[in-house]
Amino acid sequence: MALRKLVAGNWKMNGTRAKLAELDGIVSAADAAPGVDVAICPPFTLIDAAVAAAPSLPIGAQDCHHAVQGAHTGCVSAEMIVDLGARYVILGHSERRTDQHETDRDARGKALAAFAAGLTAIICVGETGAQRDAGRAGIVVAGQLEGSIPATGTAANLVIAYEPVWAIGSGRTPSLAEVKEMHGLIRAKLEAILGIEGAGVRILYGGSVNPGNAAELLAVPDVDGALVGGASLTAAQFVPIIEAAAAL
Ligand code: 13P
Repeated sequence: MALRKLVAGNWKMNGTRAKLAELDGIVSAADAAPGVDVAICPPFTLIDAAVAAAPSLPIGAQDCHHAVQGAHTGCVSAEMIVDLGARYVILGHSERRTDQHETDRDARGKALAAFAAGLTAIICVGETGAQRDAGRAGIVVAGQLEGSIPATGTAANLVIAYEPVWAIGSGRTPSLAEVKEMHGLIRAKLEAILGIEGAGVRILYGGSVNPGNAAELLAVPDVDGALVGGASLTAAQFVPIIEAAAAL
């Protein structure tokens, strides 16, 4: 089943208000691609201004807390993100798994909070280079999916991003055959966990997606979009990726 593509940008810890000028070109490209969903996930500090600057563009956060409110200094709840007008939240990104020691269980708790607040959770999974070299990529990703996906996940409130850790920011990507195999495995696992809903959950590929490789990656079966880091930081790099999705 061909699902509607989602091209999402993860700005990570990049950008001050001046960066929002990039949204003009991204909005124009999104408007010209009505068959594709486009989203930008800037740092928390820019969500409010991004929603104001680009009201038609879905905006997302890069994390949320599992609790609704309380004594959690420095944290942000899903409700607070919704309150700013954002619609997505990236959860369990490998950089947070490394830097903040987040686990599958953490991602699951945060996804439940996101669902309750009305956000769509983009849960990230992916193996390290050592795990792939050891032939364990499939087992690792299957375990991450089992540990992090709530049973209440649906095609509307959940997106999975397959991001091999070794491909992030490295300029290296898996072969198209490896992407096909892993996305097929993720689809089967989603259907095992969520039943028929799992057939409609979009599976994004992430890791060194750029204007040069987007078309071939997006054409792989069960690749329902892309989660783009570095190349989402400028309209010049991100727009061709939106256009590649629209051309399929
Ligand atoms: P790059 O596109 O910079 O490799 O980052 C991918 C990523 O981590 C998106 O979440």
